[in-house]
Parts: sequence; C-alpha cells; structure tokens
Amino acid sequence: MSGFSVDWLTLREEADLRSRDFELLEKVDQWLRDHCAKELIVADLGAGTGSTMRAFANFVSQKSESISWRLIDQDSDLLEYAHNRHCDSYRIETFDLDLNNTALLPLQSVQLITASALLDLVSEEFVDSITSQLVSLNKQQPVGLYTALTYNGMIEWKPGHSLDEKVQNSLNQDQKRDKGFGKALGPDASEYLGQRLTEAGFKVYSADSTWFLDAVDEKLVIEYIAGIDRVLENDQVLGLEALKAWVEFRESHVTTGACRVGHCDLLALPPG
Ligand SMILES: C[S@@+](CC[C@H](N)C(=O)[O-])C[C@H]1O[C@@H](n2cnc3c(N)ncnc32)[C@H](O)[C@@H]1O
Repeated sequence: MSGFSVDWLTLREEADLRSRDFELLEKVDQWLRDHCAKELIVADLGAGTGSTMRAFANFVSQKSESISWRLIDQDSDLLEYAHNRHCDSYRIETFDLDLNNTALLPLQSVQLITASALLDLVSEEFVDSITSQLVSLNKQQPVGLYTALTYNGMIEWKPGHSLDEKVQNSLNQDQKRDKGFGKALGPDASEYLGQRLTEAGFKVYSADSTWFLDAVDEKLVIEYIAGIDRVLENDQVLGLEALKAWVEFRESHVTTGACRVGHCDLLALPPG
C-alpha cells in the first residue's frame, strides 16, 4: 500500500487526462514514429493503475498492441488492478519495485520512460540518478523521457478567501517533506529535471497542464479539499481554527466556485 488508492487515482484521472498538454503528446507521438521501431517498449515509473498507458491510447497513434508497457510501482495492489483491468488489451509487465533503486529498474531496451503525477514526490538525488541512467541508456539507442502532471505550486480559488495564500504556502512547504525519496522537490521538480536534462544535452520541452476544476469536478474538488485538510491539520503557521474556517468556506463553494491547480508536463528528447 502506498497511500494512493485506486479510488483517488480514478477520481483524478479524468481531470488529468484533459489537462495533459496535447501538443507535447503529439511531439512524443512524432518522435516515436520517427525514431523508433514498430515494436516499442515504454517503462512507466510510479505507474499506479496505468493512467499514462490509457492517455497514450487516447493521444498517441502507435497502436496499443505495438507497445509493451513495463509498469513499475511499489504498490502491488495498484499493479494488480492495472494488470487485471488491461491484460487482455495491452502488453503489460508489472514490476513491484522501489524506484529509489534506479540501477535495478527494468529500463533495458526501452525507447521511452514515462511518469505522471510522480515527479513532485521525488528528490534531487532521484532526478540526478534517473538523468544518469537516461544518459547511459542513450549510448545504446535513443531513449526519451515524458513526465506529466507535476504539481508546480500554484493554486487559485474562486471565490477567493483571505487564507488562500497562507494555505497555499503551507501546502507548498509540506510538498517538500520526504515522500520516500529523501527531501522532496515538490513544486520545483519539473524545473530541476528540465535543468539537469538540458545540461546532459537533451532537448527539453515544457508545457502547462493545469487542472481547471469546477462544479463538474465536484467529487474531485471535495476530495482535494479533504486532502488539504488532512495534510495541514497539524500546521502550526495556519492553526487548526483557521484551517477549519477555510475548509468550511471551500466546501460551501464546491458547486458554485472554481479552482485551478498548476501542473506541468515535460518531454526530453536525445540530441539528433
Ligand atoms: C500520485 S500516484 C500517480 C500514479 C499514476 N502515475 C497516475 O498518474 O495516476 C504516485 C504513484 O507513485 C508510486 N510511488 C511512490 N513512491 C514510489 C517508490 N518509491 N517506488 C515505486 N513507486 C512509488 C505510488 O505507489 C503511486 O502509484
């Protein structure tokens, strides 16, 4: 168990899917068609229930049958769910592994490494290590990296509340807490990864994948507010009274208000 339930991942998937940057996915598609054999191997880090695989089925022209997916996660329940849901329609192998052991990840012969809603959890050390792996894999054949839906620290609510900024600051502070990889990069993750990959000679493309949520996303917004409540219940700066007042206000505007949560996508392609 990782703390990411099938229910939560399913709830956020619709917003994730419509927020992924379409042009970046087209670039992925073009690059795969130009540079890779008809049979592809993609490794998805922190795969959860397989949402990146489903996003590719929607946006990438490569036929599902021609892609072998290596779904890597340390949550065996999520992997089992992904396998049971898709083993008839996708070529899937699941790997119950801790991503921290980057040297042991099944990345041999892959053409693309993907990750979604993962990067903000990881540390500088993890990014450095995966960058080195990518450099070394590229000595054998071209390998790209696509990461989606990395939280970037921006949350905007409508209508506004006087505590919105304090809540955002506390949340962004919590984002830097160790999430199993050492001190988390949180909102700085995408920029840090982009810098490292640029230094390593990759062509890096970034794009916005902000969530735009309103009444249609009622259930997701309710869960999102509940999640903030849980994360910040011991926050000393904000205080419990203030947090409760903010949560009540937000709950009362779920169907009449709106919310933007900043995310970004990144694609790194090898030179040439
Ligand atoms: C926010 S979820 C995203 C899941 C999926 N990529 C998606 O977009 O729906 C983060 C995923 O990373 C996995 N994860 C977190 N830390 C991990 C680690 N150290 N090793 C392997 N997987 C990890 C969790 O189990 C979870 O499935």
